[in-house]
Amino acid sequence: MGRMADVLVLVAHPDIARSRVNRTLAAQARLLPSDAVEVRDLYALYPDYVIDIEAEQAALAQARTVVWLHPVQWYSMPALMKLWVDDVLAFRWAYGPGGRALAGKCLWLVVSTGGSETSYQDSGNNRHRFASFLPAYQQTAELVGMRFLEPCVFYGAHKAEAHDVHDHAHRFAQRLLELAGEARANVVAPQPDVGPDERRITTDE
Ligand SMILES: Cc1cc2nc3c(=O)[nH]c(=O)nc-3n(C[C@H](O)[C@H](O)[C@H](O)COP(=O)(O)O)c2cc1C
Repeated sequence: MGRMADVLVLVAHPDIARSRVNRTLAAQARLLPSDAVEVRDLYALYPDYVIDIEAEQAALAQARTVVWLHPVQWYSMPALMKLWVDDVLAFRWAYGPGGRALAGKCLWLVVSTGGSETSYQDSGNNRHRFASFLPAYQQTAELVGMRFLEPCVFYGAHKAEAHDVHDHAHRFAQRLLELAGEARANVVAPQPDVGPDERRITTDE
């Protein structure tokens, strides 16, 4: 198997053809070098909800940062993303005895909401700040030994201007490149006499 990307973006949108935000972000991510950023569209890969657990675990094993990109649905993740968590983050692989496959990697949550930022206030329709809905994500990361990065939330997706969506997607892509760079910097051995292609320590060669 060839070397896979440093950053793995898992897109989970049940109706991506009608999406504005997540579709634009996924498209931007796909423009980045594939050895830095790999994009996997879960609803496209698994329309029948039968997840290839081995393929998902192989993609995860190679990545240093995992991105979950999805619209917020019922204050949580879309159903196939949840099934992915249930199936792929398996006992003895991601947690439990010997389950250290994800330890030390980073998890970056990138979501959009229909609700505005003011709706996510104590006095708003959603009655809680968005951060109040995050403990299950944070603890999932914690349990499997991943570092939960500061999430990126795009509020008010339905009413957003096109240029705001594009600016957001551009910043998202920049951050992905930074994360890919950080991933590389972490594994570059300080040996100035070896060529750049030989410096990166990989586990699949
Ligand atoms: C079944 C369903 C549940 C949703 N639940 C929420 C919710 O709990 N909070 C919220 O702010 N928006 C909710 N939304 C709105 C979506 O978050 C919004 O449509 C999405 O972020 C827009 O992104 P897109 O342009 O990529 O489709 C929900 C939408 C659907 C279809």
